[in-house]
Amino acid sequence: MTAGAGTGRRRQDEVYRAGVYGRRPRVPTVHTALAAAARRKLTARALGYVAGGAGGESTVAADRAAFDRWQVVPRVLRDVSARDTSVELLGRRLPAPLLLGPVGALELVHREADLAVARAAADTGVPMVFSNQASVPMETTAAAMGDSPRWMQLYWSTSDDLVSSMLQRAEASGCEAVVVTLDTTMLGWRPRDLDLGHLPFALGKGIAQYTSDPVFRRLVEERAATAAPRDPQPRPTPAAVRALVGMARAWPGSLVENLRSPLPRAAVETFLAIYSRPSITWTDLAWLRAQTRLPLLLKGVLHPDDARRALDEGVDGLVVSTHGGRQVDRSIGALDALPDVVAAVDDRVPVLLDSGVRSGADLFVAVALGARACLLGRSYVYGLGLAGEEGVRQVVEDVVGEFDLTLGLTGHTAVDQLSPEVLRRV
Ligand SMILES: Cc1cc2nc3c(=O)[nH]c(=O)nc-3n(C[C@H](O)[C@H](O)[C@H](O)COP(=O)(O)O)c2cc1C
Repeated sequence: MTAGAGTGRRRQDEVYRAGVYGRRPRVPTVHTALAAAARRKLTARALGYVAGGAGGESTVAADRAAFDRWQVVPRVLRDVSARDTSVELLGRRLPAPLLLGPVGALELVHREADLAVARAAADTGVPMVFSNQASVPMETTAAAMGDSPRWMQLYWSTSDDLVSSMLQRAEASGCEAVVVTLDTTMLGWRPRDLDLGHLPFALGKGIAQYTSDPVFRRLVEERAATAAPRDPQPRPTPAAVRALVGMARAWPGSLVENLRSPLPRAAVETFLAIYSRPSITWTDLAWLRAQTRLPLLLKGVLHPDDARRALDEGVDGLVVSTHGGRQVDRSIGALDALPDVVAAVDDRVPVLLDSGVRSGADLFVAVALGARACLLGRSYVYGLGLAGEEGVRQVVEDVVGEFDLTLGLTGHTAVDQLSPEVLRRV
């Protein structure tokens, strides 16, 4: 475990010592520079998918603007030589109030995708939330993590059997909680992807949790067996051939056989037909609750009334999130929504904050406003794109390192000393 108390000074030490020999950090240590470097390196499609938001992207901006409304008021002359950045979450002690949030289709930014993230997470001790849209099956990712904490994120499919199967697999893979993402019952209006005509899943990217699932495979076989003979196809374009090869690669087994088989294409079509269920309501939660013994958290809650209802339904935690501004344009920023949700929950379950978190100082503000921990998203994805596993590890250590220093430099030695009192609203 490398990310915890003392990380700040250790990171500074490493960096400045290496600097004497002319070496610089592998990836920039501040998010703006990290994003700029990723913009230069990623393909247009990858960048559009990762950086893009819904509509005019005002929610992406609102997530950040919400942080800008808070300032920290440091205190001096308190002994801060020994600090503890750890927090307790669902019975586990974490090195810092930080998790790696679920991000799908990571193969767009790096060949090793979820595996590189998993290794960095295990190395730092920071939990990883496996995406339902991962590029690597959860069993493989879990195997790379040893005993390190991991959670599973679920999209509520129209197939009950598939949902149950995913949950069973999450349990068997050692996941310690399930995060149900509720803000994506349909894909948001995302102009960057629309203008490129690019949806990773339609190319077979980010559907590894499905193609590795026995229930999903059965559904694909049924679909392929009952599919009507297709109309004569127009002459294939090079892009269509690349898409078919991509789909064939996504299906388990030999590429050559898959290129001749109808199954890879049926898999993509099956996925597109069943991945989401816009009809879900609060009354469905009891069914989901009964499918797993794991703690259940709801991701995408922004209204205090929804938070109260979630508690009535017996959920174990909430993730206040705008999905990184990717779903609803002109939404309230996640941090702006946090205080009311925290007040409604009144300490009965942990509330996590996601969307717009970029630094250790951001962690500090969110925790002071009542978040038990934060989920990091785009920042670690850029680290992955720039330098693979090493890039993710560095981003995590940089964020935790800055949190450690901010804690001490504001006169605190433990996370539970933080409260809104340490902040001032601008
Ligand atoms: C490229 C990308 C893919 C994402 N995929 C998922 C996903 O599969 N499941 C999910 O619940 N959230 C997904 N999210 C949302 C993240 O979990 C998180 O809410 C978001 O990244 C927070 O915004 P931030 O990264 O700007 O802080 C994705 C976000 C990005 C940027």
